[in-house]
Amino acid sequence: MSEALQLPSLDECVFSEFEINFPFGPSAGTINGTNEELLLHRALDSLRSPADLTKTGSFTWNHQEGNEAKYGRCYYHNPITGETGNCMGMPNIGYRRGTELHPRLQNVADQLGKLLIPSISVGKGAIAVEALPKMAYAFAKAGAKIIEINYNCPNIIREDGSREPVMGYEPDILFGVHDKVFEEVGSEAIIVINLPPYIDQYRHLIPAVVKGLHQARGKIAVNVSNTIGDRQVFTESGEPALDVPGNLGGLSGPATVDMARNQLDIFRHALPRRIGIISCNGVFNGQEVFHRVHNQGADLTAGATVFFENETRGLSYGETAFRIAKEYAHVQNSVLEEVPT
Ligand SMILES: Cc1cc2nc3c(=O)[nH]c(=O)nc-3n(C[C@H](O)[C@H](O)[C@H](O)COP(=O)(O)O)c2cc1C
Repeated sequence: MSEALQLPSLDECVFSEFEINFPFGPSAGTINGTNEELLLHRALDSLRSPADLTKTGSFTWNHQEGNEAKYGRCYYHNPITGETGNCMGMPNIGYRRGTELHPRLQNVADQLGKLLIPSISVGKGAIAVEALPKMAYAFAKAGAKIIEINYNCPNIIREDGSREPVMGYEPDILFGVHDKVFEEVGSEAIIVINLPPYIDQYRHLIPAVVKGLHQARGKIAVNVSNTIGDRQVFTESGEPALDVPGNLGGLSGPATVDMARNQLDIFRHALPRRIGIISCNGVFNGQEVFHRVHNQGADLTAGATVFFENETRGLSYGETAFRIAKEYAHVQNSVLEEVPT
């Protein structure tokens, strides 16, 4: 279905076709799970809130129960260390059902001028290069204008307890799959490539990833980043928090702010303006949204911990977005007041 590429001009970001007033919203994993009613409720609540961004999924090739049913506690936030550990393993209704629900949500997003981004990931029991292009095509057909491809869930546990490799740390494979996705979707939709954090033993991969992004076909953006894989998070009393093999999970939360800011700096400086950037990890208040967008050049930001933690305190996703939007507006106004007239 490829057609003449209508790439935006080089200095124009792919997201420039949207009017963005509050560049924040729920990230992948916050509007997911196997409870359809809850998924729809959270998605509509977010779309009708000040959040200009709403991500659903990650939806996988097959319906997935996730790790909680099998292992026990798979999410924990330690307010003292600021660390969030999760090993949810993408519990979801499967991409086919995801595409059936999408048009209704897309209609609401279009009416309100919001960015709705379904996230897809291969999951268990499928092959990425075959599955992901088909899944992306199905969401594009369901009306999605932006589709995020999650190449790096670090929490897919095999029967023997080991983990599936993270494709984001195999640039050749990642960009090979991306090109197949482009051949299916063309420039119908913006494709967001969700990247893992390139830190520690993976830092050396950055040049190859940047080169691949410069050469990648289509209207693309990057999500910087998914959680830091293979980390142990502890409770306030020092116990391992996650009940999965090795107590290992993905690390995020306020404790990852410095890492996230550093990753954003690296990719913003290395990528052309046309490639949009969504910044994640440690975005939990309006000041951080403002800093990532106006001081560091992200186009959008997204959060998970802040929505989950506020929900346990009785605040809906919409209320959380409203609070953070107020903080963001406050910072914006105070900065504008300092500008000499
Ligand atoms: C409980 C939980 C579940 C997540 N599930 C997904 C997912 O299904 N797909 C994905 O791409 N990222 C997932 N993420 C990663 C977030 O979307 C995002 O990249 C980041 O880690 C959020 O950081 P924060 O918790 O500091 O806000 C998940 C994060 C958490 C905390």
